[in-house]
Amino acid sequence: MSSEPITVLHHRRIVLGVTGSIAVYKAVDLASKLTQAGALVDVIMTEAARRFVAPITFESVTGRPVYTTMWATAEGALPTHIAHVGLGEGADLLVIAPITAHTIARLAHGLADDLLAVTALAARCPVLIAPAMDGGMYAHPATQANLTTLRARGVTIIEPEEGRFASGLIGKGRLPETPTLIGHIRRALGRSGPLAGRRVVVTAGGTREPLDPVRVLTNRSSGKQGYALAQAALDAGADVTLISTVSELPVPVGATLVPVETAAQMRDAVLQHISGADALLMAAAVADYRPAEVAAHKLKKSGADAETRTLTLVRTPDILSEVNEQRPRSGWPRVVVGFAAESGDLLHNAQEKLQRKGLDLIVANDITAPDAGFAVDTNRVTLLDMQGNIEPLELTSKARVAEHVIARVARLLETRG
Ligand code: C5P
Repeated sequence: MSSEPITVLHHRRIVLGVTGSIAVYKAVDLASKLTQAGALVDVIMTEAARRFVAPITFESVTGRPVYTTMWATAEGALPTHIAHVGLGEGADLLVIAPITAHTIARLAHGLADDLLAVTALAARCPVLIAPAMDGGMYAHPATQANLTTLRARGVTIIEPEEGRFASGLIGKGRLPETPTLIGHIRRALGRSGPLAGRRVVVTAGGTREPLDPVRVLTNRSSGKQGYALAQAALDAGADVTLISTVSELPVPVGATLVPVETAAQMRDAVLQHISGADALLMAAAVADYRPAEVAAHKLKKSGADAETRTLTLVRTPDILSEVNEQRPRSGWPRVVVGFAAESGDLLHNAQEKLQRKGLDLIVANDITAPDAGFAVDTNRVTLLDMQGNIEPLELTSKARVAEHVIARVARLLETRG
């Protein structure tokens, strides 16, 4: 994960409650990554948590005091007048990770017997909890009933993962890794963003057209810009469907993945998922041609044509044109964004595509620049819209490009009501 500030986390106040589980060491990494991303992290540790890790570890990574008690005379205390409500009151989010079975039970019953419990009871911000415990404790009806109670009260529960515990046993109860926890935190903080209640479909990656059972025709698209768009849409509060050919990139937390391979499969998936969608962002590099025939058996190099081989290619469906065709009838998607990867005459070619494919916005990039386009983490793009506006963006990360495009989509949707 890069340490570039994450916009949805920047200057947000997160109270991180930490309870007594061996997974506390992962919470140190979480506190560190949240701080690097620009969040202000106030850590509250329970007494049991301090048996695993000392407060100074969290203080070092957050650069802020760590709170351990509500009694003003003791070290690690808040001033008395804010002890009860202070931390939770000003926070954007309360995250308790890891949360033990014991603290889950305390929260479910509204106990207020230490600073973390009091803060949880007084907090008016959203609450996110990440259980971590032995599989048997997690599956126990008492824990599950307490979780059901908390869920009914609006607490978001990050499901623990299956795996091996410190005890050597295998089961469900492991704290997810930092990127997953941060994905849930982004989702919680983005919920009321400019795309709240909107449905966004994003396509990503290069399509793969089979030639025989082992070979495919594909392109250099990594899918990174598409995945960044999906994440930016999630940060803005949208429900996101990600139609993707990529298996190497982590799926942003909260996105629904629809895996596809070929242009034809992508077309079917897009036409199915745009029904009711507010926006479609076609970031995928869709093959224009596919082999006319797919050999049932691996093609051999022996035979009369061993030195050269001629392939017959046929056109694939133009997905955006088909979307455009059905749009006047269905009304969906309300906003369509295309992408143009060009190696020359960028603006002219992009403008022509914008018109021909009936797009609201096109993101054009010059793939001949070494710091932009395929596989790298940065991009240099120009946005062209149907009103004739041309907006060149500086060279920046794909995450920033994505945020910019999503902000434009949000504005377009706003003007359409
Ligand atoms: O014409 P060109 O392929 O350069 O257009 C790029 C845009 O069109 C991209 O948004 C891409 O996802 C989309 N496209 C499509 N169907 C195709 C080829 C490209 O929707 N068969």
